[in-house]
Amino acid sequence: MNVLLVGSGGREDAIARKIRETDTLYSVIMNDNPSIIKLSRDVIDYSTDSQKIVDFARKNKIDIAFIGPDGVLETDLVDRLSENHIPVASPTQKAAKIETSKEYMRSLMKKYRIRGDIENTVITNSEYLKEFFHENEGEYAVKPIGLTGGKGVKVMGLQLNGTAEAMAYASEILERDGKVLLEKRETGEEFSIQAFTDGTHIAFMPVVQDYKRLYEDDLGPNTGGMGSISDKNFTLPFITIDSVNDARNILRKIVNSMKEDGNTFKGVMYGQFMDTSHGVKVIEVNARFADPESINVLTLFKSNLVDVFLDIYSGTLKENLKFLDKATVLKYIVPPGYGIKPVESELVIKDGIESDNFKLYYSSVSGTLNRVKTSKSRALALIGIGDSIYEASDIVEDKLKYISGDYYIRHDIGTEQMLTRKIRGQ
Ligand code: GLY
Repeated sequence: MNVLLVGSGGREDAIARKIRETDTLYSVIMNDNPSIIKLSRDVIDYSTDSQKIVDFARKNKIDIAFIGPDGVLETDLVDRLSENHIPVASPTQKAAKIETSKEYMRSLMKKYRIRGDIENTVITNSEYLKEFFHENEGEYAVKPIGLTGGKGVKVMGLQLNGTAEAMAYASEILERDGKVLLEKRETGEEFSIQAFTDGTHIAFMPVVQDYKRLYEDDLGPNTGGMGSISDKNFTLPFITIDSVNDARNILRKIVNSMKEDGNTFKGVMYGQFMDTSHGVKVIEVNARFADPESINVLTLFKSNLVDVFLDIYSGTLKENLKFLDKATVLKYIVPPGYGIKPVESELVIKDGIESDNFKLYYSSVSGTLNRVKTSKSRALALIGIGDSIYEASDIVEDKLKYISGDYYIRHDIGTEQMLTRKIRGQ
C-alpha cells in the first residue's frame, strides 16, 4: 500500500515508523524532519493550497491518507482528497469541528445530553462579559473557541490571578475573535484517551497523562506538552477503572451523536478528561492523535496501523486492537528558553541510543539523524518502555548520556516521587 502522511512532528514520526513496518510512505512535511525524510519514498513541503497535496497523492497512487496536525484538519484538505477519490482515514473539515470549534463541541454535548459536560457559556459582547463576572462567583477557564496550539487556555487560580485578570484576558479574546468561551473551573487529575473510530465502531487505546506545564512539579506556563506517561492494563495508578470506563462511554456517545447529527467522524478522536470529585468531566475533544500521547500508544501498538486506517475508511474497524502490556514514559527535549524565549540550538546524538526498551522520535528539527538543528518548538521525544512507570522514566534518564548540546527537559516526569504524590492525591 502507498500511504500518505501529512505532518512532521514527533507524533508523525511515530505514525511514520508504524506505517513503514508494513507499507510504503509518502510524506507532506512542515520541517525537514530527518527521520520522516529517511522513512519516506518521496516528500513534499506542506502547502495551504490543497491542490498541490492532491496532485502529489495522485502522482504516487496513494491508497490511504492520514493527517496529523489540527491546523491541517481545519483546512479543506481531507474534503479535497475525498473529492479526488483518495481514501482518507481522517475527519472531514466539518467533523473536525469537534476540535476546531469548542462551541460546537459543547453544543453537541448539550443537545445529546452527553455526561461529563462542564457548565459553560459563550460570550459575544463586552457588556455581557462584565455582567457575567459581576453575577457569577467562582473560578473559570477562559478559552478561545478555535485552535490554541495548547497555549491559549488560561484558568483562574492558575494562569489568571483573580477576576480582573480573567476579564482582561476574556476581553482580549472577545475583541480578537468576536467570541469567548467561559467554563467553570474543575479540579482533579487529567487524563487522555485516544480512540480509532470509523463513525460507528470505536477502538480505544491505553490511557495516557500529558504534562503540559513547562517546569517540574507542574509549575509554569502551559506548553504543547513536555512529556507523558502510560501504564500497564490500559489505565494509570491514580485513575480508577470506573473513571476510565466513564470516559470511554463519553467518547462513544460523542461518536454516536455526531453520526446522528449528520456529521460522521472518522479517524482518531482524543478526549482530554478530568477525574473530579463529582465524576469524569470533558475538558476538550480533539480530532486527531495527541502529541505526545500518541507516541506512548503507538510505541506499544502491535496491530497493523495501515489496516486500521483502511478499516476506518471502509467502516469495518475492529474494536479489539493489540497493545504491548508495558508502561511508557516520554520526555521531550526542547530548546533552551522553550515556551518563554526560545533559542535555537544544535544537538548531537550518538549512535546506538535506541534499544528494545527505548525509542527516540524526531520532532521540530532538521539536519541528520545524528546532528539536528532545533527550531523554537519541541525537538526530540525520548520514550522508555518498562514494567513500571518508574522503570520507564529511569530508562529515559539513562539514555540522556547519548545526547549533547543545549536543551531543557523535565526530569520529574514518571519518577517515583511524582507518582507517589499523585497516588496520595497531593
Ligand atoms: N497533548 C496535547 C495535544 O496534543 O493537544
